[in-house]
Amino acid sequence: MTENSLPANAGFGIDVGGSGIKGAIVDLDTGEFVGERHKIATPQPATPEAVAETITAIIEHFGWDGPVGITLPSVMKHQVARSAANVDQQWIGTDTQELFGRHLPGREVTVLNDADAAGLAEVEFGAAEAREGAAIFLTLGTGIGSALLLEGKLFPNTELGHMIVGKKEAEKQASSAVKDKKELSYKDWAKRVNTVLEEYEKLFNPDVFLIGGGISRKFDKWSGYLTLETPVMPANLRNRAGIVGAALAAQRGVKP
Ligand code: BGC
Repeated sequence: MTENSLPANAGFGIDVGGSGIKGAIVDLDTGEFVGERHKIATPQPATPEAVAETITAIIEHFGWDGPVGITLPSVMKHQVARSAANVDQQWIGTDTQELFGRHLPGREVTVLNDADAAGLAEVEFGAAEAREGAAIFLTLGTGIGSALLLEGKLFPNTELGHMIVGKKEAEKQASSAVKDKKELSYKDWAKRVNTVLEEYEKLFNPDVFLIGGGISRKFDKWSGYLTLETPVMPANLRNRAGIVGAALAAQRGVKP
């Protein structure tokens, strides 16, 4: 991509997931991708070194030389990963600034939790409800990721997917991966989601739940089975959210 075909406010985001690592140039005025996103299968094992090499390849694919935002399925404290879900446990304790300083020397790199990134993207480009009052944004995918939002400001690194609901972690009962693995109908799976959301509702009393992740595209198939008092809405950005949020965080220099 040549410099002059880029929008004035272009950024770059990369979303690291358990199965794919995806990157795209993002128009930060609209939240749209500029051209196609590029995806490479997540290396196995997904160690910090292997993932950093894949990320470097994605950046080179675009010839991008500006700041880069990266999501990880990890709690991020001062740019050090403190947990690792669906990526190698070697991430725990990894200083991402040191890692990317070696792989992408001289480059401004910002790393944040994947659900936090998606929540930030929703605030900027999604439903108005994400910017108003107290909102809980959840991504239902391989796990359950969460972003707590108050008037559009993020309380980072919440891990509601790991909350014990009944006897098990929420994400072990109601992620979309569980639906696939157990071949649950939308109805049976939605009942599990409802149980989890009821627990969150009891403890946090938000104004709204916003649901992202691939399964939010099929929201109409299962939302009818939810019986909460709190409104539940699908997120607008769907699977663009992680990349867009990463690019936004990089532009703002937000370094959780
Ligand atoms: C992780 C979170 C992550 C979520 C979605 C959970 O298992 O603990 O950090 O946001 O999965 O990937």
